[in-house]
Amino acid sequence: MDPPGPTALPAEPGTCAQWAWALIDHRQTILPRKLTEPGPDEGQLDLILRSAAAAPDHREIVPWRFVIIPAMARERLAEVFGNALRERDPAATPHQVEEARAKAFRSPVLMLAVVRTGSPDDEVPAGERLLSAGCAIQNMLLMATAMGFASALTSGKALRSKGMRELFSLAPDEQAVCFVSLGTAIRSKSSRQRPEPGLYVSYLSSDP
Ligand SMILES: Cc1cc2nc3c(=O)[nH]c(=O)nc-3n(C[C@H](O)[C@H](O)[C@H](O)COP(=O)(O)O)c2cc1C
Repeated sequence: MDPPGPTALPAEPGTCAQWAWALIDHRQTILPRKLTEPGPDEGQLDLILRSAAAAPDHREIVPWRFVIIPAMARERLAEVFGNALRERDPAATPHQVEEARAKAFRSPVLMLAVVRTGSPDDEVPAGERLLSAGCAIQNMLLMATAMGFASALTSGKALRSKGMRELFSLAPDEQAVCFVSLGTAIRSKSSRQRPEPGLYVSYLSSDP
């Protein structure tokens, strides 16, 4: 799939808004164990990854990166998941360890989102960097949704393990934020009740 160059909106703004709303509303988490093939092909994945670059990025420092975990490398991730569980819980049963390992093999496309949080005196603080990463990830999720794919973000304690840091060669000022999974939903899921703006919007009073 060719990456589209800079374009005008392909339709009247009102129509585009309807598309955008449909896309935003349609995105929902389909957890990795409910994802199957096909995932995005090479060209589709390229466009999904390009979408990340359109995220707001204060000072254009690109404080995030994504590490794709191809099928051949999933065993290495499985080892880290298994070891992280054993370290957290030495009493973990072989079945629990196998469950932890299985997470590495689930999604057709699996990548790790990494944020360079920087140091406290950096001009762009960690919060802004994480926010930019969230925007980049949402761009990718929406592009994947537009292509008909399902997606999920997952995190968990293993992300903070020493083994994970080593596997992904994280620098001291980098943080593994979440995994991004892309694929095809095994079955559809009813959409959740989303919060009303009244829950998260207020107006600043003109009174001092
Ligand atoms: C950074 C991040 C990490 C997440 N990790 C998990 C996870 O480990 N397990 C999970 O079930 N959902 C995880 N989620 C997904 C949320 O549970 C989900 O987005 C939320 O329930 C809203 O549902 P929706 O995405 O279908 O709208 C994560 C979401 C974010 C933003």
